[in-house]
Amino acid sequence: MEQKKYKIILCDLINPVSDNEAELIRNSAVVLKNNSEGDPGQDSFAFFENGKAEYILNRYNSEKGTDILDRRDQLMLPAFFDIHFHWVQDDVRLMPKENLLLWLSEYVWPYEADFINSEYSRQEAVSFGKKLLAAGTLGGACYASIHGHTVDHALENFKGRFAAGNVLMTMNSPDYLTQTEEDAVRLVEEKSSEYRERYAATPRFALTTGPDVMKACSEIARKNNSFIQTHLSETEKEIEAVLSCYRKIDGFEDIKTYTEIYKRCGILSSATIMGHCIHLSDEEYELLSETGTSIAHCPTSNAPVKDSGLGSGLFDFRKAEKAGVKWALASDIGGGPFLSMFDVMRSFVIQNRERGIDDATYVKALYRSTAAGAEILGLNKICGSLDTGKAADFILIDSPAEKEKESAEEILKTAAESRADDRTQYLDLVQSTFFGGTELYLRKKNND
Ligand code: GUN
Ligand code: FE
Repeated sequence: MEQKKYKIILCDLINPVSDNEAELIRNSAVVLKNNSEGDPGQDSFAFFENGKAEYILNRYNSEKGTDILDRRDQLMLPAFFDIHFHWVQDDVRLMPKENLLLWLSEYVWPYEADFINSEYSRQEAVSFGKKLLAAGTLGGACYASIHGHTVDHALENFKGRFAAGNVLMTMNSPDYLTQTEEDAVRLVEEKSSEYRERYAATPRFALTTGPDVMKACSEIARKNNSFIQTHLSETEKEIEAVLSCYRKIDGFEDIKTYTEIYKRCGILSSATIMGHCIHLSDEEYELLSETGTSIAHCPTSNAPVKDSGLGSGLFDFRKAEKAGVKWALASDIGGGPFLSMFDVMRSFVIQNRERGIDDATYVKALYRSTAAGAEILGLNKICGSLDTGKAADFILIDSPAEKEKESAEEILKTAAESRADDRTQYLDLVQSTFFGGTELYLRKKNND
């Protein structure tokens, strides 16, 4: 088979530039260049240039080996990064939610226990991997269950650029989901040295993971260039429980804040991602800032119970930004009910707007769902936007009607709010998902 050197996609596009800017090009021709040398099985395309179709097509008309995909009724966006989700919680997403601790013990933990069965885990991972592609998510950081094979199955089956980690549960957990400290550390050592930067050492949260385990796994992660991820200050009840537990542990009697516990366990670092961070003091923001720790903000998970969230509150992105803390958006499946980052963007904008915070725009939400997540994973030179030289990881959605009149903000708003009345339909939004220029997902139309 002849190897194509270029691929040109005719479409509209929105490219996130920053919190305040997204480039909108209508009737664009996006040129992808094949960077793989000679091996047709290993095609890997990167963004090469883009511009008005009539101008680009003239120049490439005479070029041999150019594929042209006519998607003129569609709009290109970078593929999403979901920087915090639990792939083993797909079936508890819509179960009754009252508050975090109750939901964990009543629903999440019994369900995660089923993943002890490796064959079941593998099948679930295959199915979840398809859902990620349909959602247009090609990167992020994910939590598995306590069982090592749930990390293997995620990394084998999720197409794109993911870091994954088995949760560590060595205390305050049900018997059927409690590991010894030795087993927990051994598993981190094994998986971290195997997967390196694709692994995230994952103390579930301070309540379930003993401080010695956290200390050991922070050293292991550092040694292997792995990430560290956990939950921090999601609800007030959780904070109370964590503080009262740790004040009884040697070396933590004088602890004042939740963040300080993690600091003392050595897990704050520039490779660390903290989920939620809703109820933090200024001193805690300062600790995150000085250690280079990032935050995963999960608005649909934190949303009120009536909106299928856990009612945990709203992350204050302005405070995080003022303190210089990096943050990105995430679904937190199954705390968050839907995998689509369009639903997450909508929730972020709406919840902030309801509180009169008007700099929570869709342009910002897009940046925080793509480039910002890539940056947290150290991948922003490789992917996360449609910039020249980056891998051609992108999605296509239907372009809204009357698009000529609209700005990037309005187009994104139309797309993100188009399924708000029936959020189960969000997975219909993405028409195609391309990874390295190869179309891995093409949505079946109803009448196909
Ligand atoms: N805190 C500890 N474990 C979890 C979890 O599974 N989901 C959420 N949202 N918060 C947690
Ligand atoms: Fe979570």
